[in-house]
Order: sequence, then structure tokens, then C-alpha cells
Amino acid sequence: MVMEAIKAMSAEEITELCLRHTLYDWSAQAGLKPLPVTTAKGVHFQTADGRRFIDFNSQLMGVNAGHGDRRIIEAIKRQAEQLPYISPFMAHEPRARLGKKLAELLPGDIDKVFFTLGGTDANENAIKMARAVTGRPKILARYRSYHGSTGTAVQATGDPRRWPNEHSGGVVHVLDPYHGIQRGEDTAEVALTHLEEVIRLEGPETIAAFILEPVTGTNGVLIPPDGYLQGVRELCDRFGILLICDEVMTGFGRTGRWFAVDHWNVVPDLITLAKGLTSSYVPLGAVGMRKHVAAYFDDHVFYGGLTYNSHPLGCAAALGTIQAYEEDDMVGNSRRLGEILKRHHRRLMERHPCVGAARNIGLFGALELVRDRKTMEPLGPFNGTSPEMKAVQQALLEGGMYTFSRWNVIMTIPPLCITEAELDEGFEILDSALEVGDRAIGA
Ligand SMILES: Cc1ncc(COP(=O)(O)O)c(C=O)c1O
Repeated sequence: MVMEAIKAMSAEEITELCLRHTLYDWSAQAGLKPLPVTTAKGVHFQTADGRRFIDFNSQLMGVNAGHGDRRIIEAIKRQAEQLPYISPFMAHEPRARLGKKLAELLPGDIDKVFFTLGGTDANENAIKMARAVTGRPKILARYRSYHGSTGTAVQATGDPRRWPNEHSGGVVHVLDPYHGIQRGEDTAEVALTHLEEVIRLEGPETIAAFILEPVTGTNGVLIPPDGYLQGVRELCDRFGILLICDEVMTGFGRTGRWFAVDHWNVVPDLITLAKGLTSSYVPLGAVGMRKHVAAYFDDHVFYGGLTYNSHPLGCAAALGTIQAYEEDDMVGNSRRLGEILKRHHRRLMERHPCVGAARNIGLFGALELVRDRKTMEPLGPFNGTSPEMKAVQQALLEGGMYTFSRWNVIMTIPPLCITEAELDEGFEILDSALEVGDRAIGA
């Protein structure tokens, strides 16, 4: 019996049981073929049937320190031996240390955090706090955005993942500066004029907060024009609207700074974190708040709570993760290798007619594939896919690369510990796979 229990499963058994008894995210389940992963180290992972992949997406854009980092693993193990769980009404050392450390790293006067389990509930709580502090009901968000999968977080999500989840109101969406590869991008001035008009039409005194990803993630690594974020800050200040920056994906070095807002010296009133906070080794999210927000809760009840708020294993993992980032200067690595990634992007654009646009900030990159460089018609439609995009995705997998691809976009988001040689390895695979895209469009 015992021998049976520890016998490793075959690749087929793992996949078959996972599909039979567990539900996968954002998918109709029939036809799914999840990879049966057994081990991972650095920027690579292996499957039970002996395949090896380079991870060009840091899984779900969260394993920033890379796989199998001993400092994070040991921190979790030590905490598991010492105190794996205690109620959120208690105080404990990892919570104390992590709160202090985040207050040092976070911008401006953000010096208090509320810990959650991930990004969705960080955004739920940030929105709840903004409504409590301002006494206003509405939330502004952008269309090309993702803020989570439940309640108000999915309501705030602007992209089509919202459509089947719309059961209540309270969120107003505004246009992004970016309008897709064919229409391109507004200047900061035009985007801010639109935003101000919406604020005035909605009634500023009804709007609690504007939530946005400072650099948009799953909707295609959209980097705002310079001046946009500063302008948003100014509009929020002018109308008494709180600014919530969702740094669930961009936080912890992804863009080459600790936080994306640091590129523009903007301090949001609330900032939400997850993913890179623990390098995704265990679930943990956080809402950081400025002093004026935190002060509100000094004498008003915070009507929120989670059994796993400040979970000791999560806090310990985050401390181990931040130690790894600091010891290896991974934020600097993201900045430096981001320049090399940009060169690789440029080369792919030169070599492959199917690449219509390439952009990155640090190690946060994306390619947009097109049918034709003149019309810039996307290779996969908005909220859909195409046989050509599927062929490129298949070629990537067969070449040994795992990355995230959605609509006409292919992400280039490797762990921040990646070396130049490993970047070369990944871009060679991309180079070959894009030939499939070129052939598909007859180039
Ligand atoms: C910007 C952003 N916000 C929120 C979330 C939701 O985080 P989680 O999946 O940890 O709930 C995500 C997840 O991809 C995200 O990218």
C-alpha cells in the first residue's frame, strides 16, 4: 500500500486524473492537454515524459526569481518547521519583517499593507478600501485590462473575460491610450482628455477610484506614453479620486524597476501586489496603502478579513524571494537584459514579416503578429484565435518553449534570473517558430 502511494505516476496518469477530477481555468475542458510537469530549475522545466521547456512566461508571469531557488525553498521549509499557520489576529515574525521590508521598497509614503492570497482578492480589497475611504460608489477602470476573476475584480476587468461575469454594476470603463495594432496609440494628452471627459460625465463625486495596470499585462504588454500616468495622478488628485495601481504582474522587478510606477515617479494611493511577491512559490498578495488611506482605518473598522491574511508560509516565502532579488540584483538584471531582449525583438522584426510590432520594458515583452505589415491585420482576431496563431504556438512547444499567447500576441516574459545565453536559446526557438507564421501568411 505504502509503496503504491509513493510510486511516481506516468505522464498519462497525471494528465488524465487532473482532467477527470479538477477544473482548469478559463477553458472549455474538452480537448485540453495540460503539460504534466515534474520539476523546474532556473528558466527551465521538465515533464514526466522527459520533455524540457524553456519558460518564456515565468509560468503566469510570476516566477520572477526563477524556478527552484534554494533561498525561497529554505525560507518556506524553515517557517513550516517553526509555525506553518497562525490566525490573522496574531502577530508573528515573518509578518513583522515583511511589512517593514515592503514599506521600505514601496514608493512614496506607502507604508502599510493588507495581505491577501493573490491578485484578485488584493484588488477586491483595494476597491473596498477606496469605497470606504471616499464614501463614493463607482470605480473607473480601462477596457484593455485584467484585474482578477471574482466579484468586483472581474467587473473592473475590461477585457472580454468580464462579459460572462457581469452580474452587478458600479464599474465604468474608459478607453486606453492603445487602440490595437491597426489604430495605434493616443498621445498622453488625448488619452487624458478622454479620461477627464468620462470623469465629468459620470460625476466626479460618485467615483471612488481609478484602477489601472501601469503597464498592462495580459492585454499585450501595453506601455503608456510618457506623461500619461503622471496626468492620471493629477486628474485623480483634482477630483478626489483614489488611484489604485494594479502591480500584480508588473511588481518586483518585472519592468526593470521594483515597481512599474517607479518609471514615472507616480505614487498611487493603493497598490496591489501578488505573483512576484513570492515568485509564486506559495500564494500571497498584498494591498499597499499610503498613510492617508491607512489613517482612515485607525478609527474606522476595516470591514474585511481572510483566514489566510498574513499567512506565515506566504510571508516567509516573500522574504526569501526579496532576499533572492536583492542578492542577485535581479531588478538590475531585468533592466540590463531588457535591452538585450529589445535587440532580439528588433532582429525578429527584421527577419519575420509576420511580426508587426514588438515592445518591452525590462523583461516584460510581447510580439504582435500580423497577416500583412501594410494593413497590420492581426494574425489572430480580438478575443479569438486562428489556425495560423495555433500553428505558431504548436511550433514553439515542439521547439521546447513554453510561453503565453493570446489573440495575436506572443509574450516574452522570462524569469529575471535569465542569462544572456538563455535569452539566445529562447530567441532561437522563437526565430524558428515564426517561420511557420511567415509561411502561413505567404511571406
Ligand atoms: C494585473 C493583474 N491583476 C490581477 C490578477 C489576478 O491575480 P490572481 O490570479 O493572483 O488572483 C492578475 C493575474 O494574472 C493580473 O495579471
